[in-house]
Amino acid sequence: MCENKLTKSLFNESKLANIKVKNRFVRSATWENMTTEDGHLTKELYNIYEDLSKNEVGLIITGYGNIVKEEQPNPGMMGIYDDSFINEYKKLTSIVHSYDSKIIMQLAYGGTKTKFNLGDRIIYAPSEVPERSTNVLGKAMTKDEINYIVNDFAKAGKRVKDSGFDGVEIHGAHTYLINQFLSPYYNRRTDEYGGSLENRMRFLIEIYYKMREMVGEDFPIFVKLTATEFFDGGLTFEETKLICKKLESIGINGIEISGNVHGKAKLMVGQVFDGLELKKEGYFLEYAKIISNIVNIPIITVGGFKELDNIAKVFNETNISYFGLSRPLLAEPNLIKRWKDGDTKPAKCVRCSKCRTPEGNYCTIFNKCTF
Ligand SMILES: Cc1cc2nc3c(=O)[nH]c(=O)nc-3n(C[C@H](O)[C@H](O)[C@H](O)COP(=O)(O)O)c2cc1C
Repeated sequence: MCENKLTKSLFNESKLANIKVKNRFVRSATWENMTTEDGHLTKELYNIYEDLSKNEVGLIITGYGNIVKEEQPNPGMMGIYDDSFINEYKKLTSIVHSYDSKIIMQLAYGGTKTKFNLGDRIIYAPSEVPERSTNVLGKAMTKDEINYIVNDFAKAGKRVKDSGFDGVEIHGAHTYLINQFLSPYYNRRTDEYGGSLENRMRFLIEIYYKMREMVGEDFPIFVKLTATEFFDGGLTFEETKLICKKLESIGINGIEISGNVHGKAKLMVGQVFDGLELKKEGYFLEYAKIISNIVNIPIITVGGFKELDNIAKVFNETNISYFGLSRPLLAEPNLIKRWKDGDTKPAKCVRCSKCRTPEGNYCTIFNKCTF
């Protein structure tokens, strides 16, 4: 066990909403690209989740799951669009729980952010505004289509609960559909879903209320948000602060603060953005810090963490409660156990972001073994 005074408390048990988490480390949502074609689990996926939980990851957030069958924004992503998934997720959650790790499922509606299967899928958007990096144009949603997606997010949330997950995370970041509704750049609607921030939040809030109605008061619901869109006319941090306050007031149990990718910039994974090379620890830390001071629900920060001492310092000096890691755990699934056991060298991950491959997403440098 690591004896460093600063880091010790990172390994203490805490409660995230009503979830007992054995430490402060979260595997942030990571799409593995390893399901069957229709989103069902494979042996490789069971092995990956078992490996993470065996190696002391306190809370695992699954890769994003698609809530409606016809909208799969990327290949190999987990499905949760009908009840046929429940039994296999029960198996997954019980594997993770057998190691005293916890697991929540991330739910997403994709949209125009990817170029996958453009001809085959219906691609909804708040308005007909091409996505800045893919140039893909979606169909502006009618009120009926909005209701359909709101209901299907909620139904998927209920399946998540019925599958034994400890909670659910709504993906409201990374320019996927919910993020686009929040954004004044992508949302040009003139009805009750567009215009003022209150109107732009309506879609997310309706999803939350409908899901809450279906999962009950005690089931934790989290949201992942983009801190700011980093371009003129996009969602600003001032607006995100107001969104967080609103989410807290309606009963959201915690918020994960992330960022966006636009054009050639790959800010989410810390590559060059407007000439600024982001090699620093904690790409969105400054934003998460501020939000953690204005709300009283747990804040998870994600993006660019690889040094234990730095994480411990942030943990001790701010109100941020949990630390999300994605690529470092692809490179070293045993990272948290290694740190806990006293080998506190930084994560090996070199942030090359070459982990997305056509045969599955894994670390092509340090962990080529894909089970
Ligand atoms: C291969 C890969 C898949 C990802 N899949 C998702 C996903 O399904 N949902 C999501 O919200 N973020 C996803 N992300 C983003 C991560 O959760 C995280 O926000 C980002 O990688 C920055 O954290 P890191 O520096 O620890 O990698 C993915 C990242 C990678 C590298």
